Amino acid sequence: MECPWVSIEKLPDWEGKEVELRGWLANRRSSGKVVFFVFRDGTGFAQITLSVGAFFDKETLKDLERLPLESALVVRGRVRKEERAPGGYELEGTQVKVVSVADEYPIQKKDHSVEFLMENRHLWLRSRRQNAILRIRNQVVMSIHEFLQGQGFTLIDSPILTPAACEGTTTLFGLDYFDLGKAYLSQSGQLYMEAACMAFGKVYCLAPAFRAEKSKTRRHLTEFWMLEPEMAFYDWQDNMRLQEELVSFIIQEVLRTKARELEILERDITPLKKIEPPFPRITYDEAIRLLQQKGLSVQWGDDFGGDEESIISQEFDRPVFIHHYPARVKAFYMQPDPENPQLVLNDDLIAPEGYGEIIGGSERIHDMHLLEERIAEHHLPREAFAWYLDLRRYGTCPHSGFGLGIERTVAWICGIHHIREAIPFPRQIYRLYP
Ligand code: 4AD
Ligand code: MG
Repeated sequence: MECPWVSIEKLPDWEGKEVELRGWLANRRSSGKVVFFVFRDGTGFAQITLSVGAFFDKETLKDLERLPLESALVVRGRVRKEERAPGGYELEGTQVKVVSVADEYPIQKKDHSVEFLMENRHLWLRSRRQNAILRIRNQVVMSIHEFLQGQGFTLIDSPILTPAACEGTTTLFGLDYFDLGKAYLSQSGQLYMEAACMAFGKVYCLAPAFRAEKSKTRRHLTEFWMLEPEMAFYDWQDNMRLQEELVSFIIQEVLRTKARELEILERDITPLKKIEPPFPRITYDEAIRLLQQKGLSVQWGDDFGGDEESIISQEFDRPVFIHHYPARVKAFYMQPDPENPQLVLNDDLIAPEGYGEIIGGSERIHDMHLLEERIAEHHLPREAFAWYLDLRRYGTCPHSGFGLGIERTVAWICGIHHIREAIPFPRQIYRLYP
């Protein structure tokens, strides 16, 4: 008999029909005459009931009841509405084919340490929570493409092997590159996006970035993914408007399409529903005053860390822009404020609920001589930046862009504590396995 292979997330469309599911045994229990499977296929989890009767005899059920967790199975059965089953539908099993019998599965108890789970990340990915987080990550990335493509942006891929630093020389991962000497893993695709925006107008890349950061915080990875749009003829304010529209779009799309995943994560979505433009904007000076009023000992000229960012974000119910930082705490390429050249036309976007900076952006220096000065001041190798200077020689114009950290954004949306769960296989100072 024809029996269509369907996915668990589509079960409601098949009520009353006989279907086939292909997946893995996530859990099981028995109540004498009935064996209950919790079954997963990647798209969701479903209950399967197997009863003594026309399809299974007692002996067969006894064997099925003893199947090790994570055994691979092909199950057929009839889809039935069942309020009490997770997802609201279950399968009344008519046939179980065992594809493979698993060894004893290492992830069993509820109270494994994160260390143990991370060591078994290749298996931990199968859990309900990890599945929900990474499906939300998938939606975040899809929404980014949808939003930017809809606004006339062109995706331009940036190189990973690069000859020089973008975000400061202290966090570079270096390697030997044949006869050409040292190469570095890219800290950011920005400089290449600047070239591309002069060729395509509005561009973006979505690529891994590498930082040899000694930071062991819950917001730092050594390899993370960054979205970097770059727009010719945008000033710093156009830049912020694009950021708040993009971030709001991402959130609203996740709320619309990933309600079930957010529920699995027990994410309170009330604060997320409020995320729409415009976002509040404060200057760096105002941020310093606010922190001092709160009793922090920060001085003008200090950069902000996670603690400062959290305190600032608590004052607002949406992400907040902090703009006009002192030039000396920021990267070499940022355009100075014409009214006070000690400051730059930049913005950091701080997520609510203590998630910290999710975006760093700025208008870029478009004057050739000023840029040459900054490259020298930062002791950057001029030869490696010859092409970058060329952009200021041939048709230079004001332009702006930003970088959005995918993992920090996903961690915030999911409401998870540490960004290591927002990437499939995290890389940290002490983690390179699996
Ligand atoms: O502020 P950052 O360093 O900015 C840049 O790299 C610019 N070149 C971007 C641009 O203008 N095109 O990094 C941007 C974002 C941060 O706001 C943060 O979300 C994320 O990237 N990020 C990290 N995420 C995880 N682990 C790390 N070590 C990160 N460093 C930055
Ligand atoms: Mg930054």
